[in-house]
Amino acid sequence: MSEKENTNSLDETLGKIKRRVMVFSGKGGVGKSTVAANLAIALSEKGFKVGIVDVDIHGPNLAKMLGVEKARMLPSKNNRVNPVSITPNLKLVSMAFLLEHEDLPVIWRGPLKMKAIQQFMQDVEWGDLDWLIIDSPPGTGDEPLSVAQLIPSTGALVVTTPQDVALLDSRKAINFARKLDLKILGIVENMSGFKCPHCGKEIDIFKGEGALVTAKKMGINFLGKIPLEPSIVASGDSGQPFILGHPESEAAKAFQKIVDKIMESEE
Ligand SMILES: Nc1ncnc2c1ncn2[C@@H]1O[C@H](COP(=O)(O)OP(=O)(O)OP(=O)(O)O)[C@@H](O)[C@H]1O
Ligand SMILES: [Mg+2]
Repeated sequence: MSEKENTNSLDETLGKIKRRVMVFSGKGGVGKSTVAANLAIALSEKGFKVGIVDVDIHGPNLAKMLGVEKARMLPSKNNRVNPVSITPNLKLVSMAFLLEHEDLPVIWRGPLKMKAIQQFMQDVEWGDLDWLIIDSPPGTGDEPLSVAQLIPSTGALVVTTPQDVALLDSRKAINFARKLDLKILGIVENMSGFKCPHCGKEIDIFKGEGALVTAKKMGINFLGKIPLEPSIVASGDSGQPFILGHPESEAAKAFQKIVDKIMESEE
């Protein structure tokens, strides 16, 4: 296929996607994939057509978190593949569907990763989408850079935990989004406080000034806090979306408020 045909095909795919949100962070393990998965589920439950693309090439987690790790992307027409359908309104594309075994590493340099991300968009039969949620690996490396370059008009959603080392890295992520002219939707503070199940007392596991202060200092929106909640871990490990399984929990309610704010900022 010529370079021009490739560009046209990417444009054609992107032309059918109304809103795009990249979930990323400066630091690893802060809850990006958890936020991306539950955001996508929440939007799809509201009746929107949602796609999730897992651009974490080395550590794809979404297939497991969404309970479809054994699925495969099947060929469709025009040399394309179909994304994996999780529900009629929710589709996922991930490197996890292309690995022969889930324990095998992907040992690729930047250009190859960029090519894969491009193919995740232009060679996938996404169809019409209201939202595309993009889950990134930690940091400001090849993958979020490729997204910024390949998928224009992407909103940036920064996830952090409350301690200073995570906030320091978040400021890098915010400045990365600014440099690349992404629209910054705001910052989410995850793992924010823990309520002791025995005495009900609040414990601040991660000290630090918190993402609210960072948001104010950096002039971006603070989207809310999600507490530490052990059933989030169990939900992620068992492929059962947390907000559907525990809708009455404090964490799910906090999550829904964040989803509402994201919807408002993208109107
Ligand atoms: N609010 C929370 N309370 C308790 N556990 C959480 C919470 N948010 C996420 N987790 C758990 O923390 C772990 C890391 O979360 P997750 O994989 O979403 O982070 P990540 O930022 O995507 O990580 P990576 O940087 O490796 O991509 C997971 O086991 C997840 O279930
Ligand atoms: Mg992740």
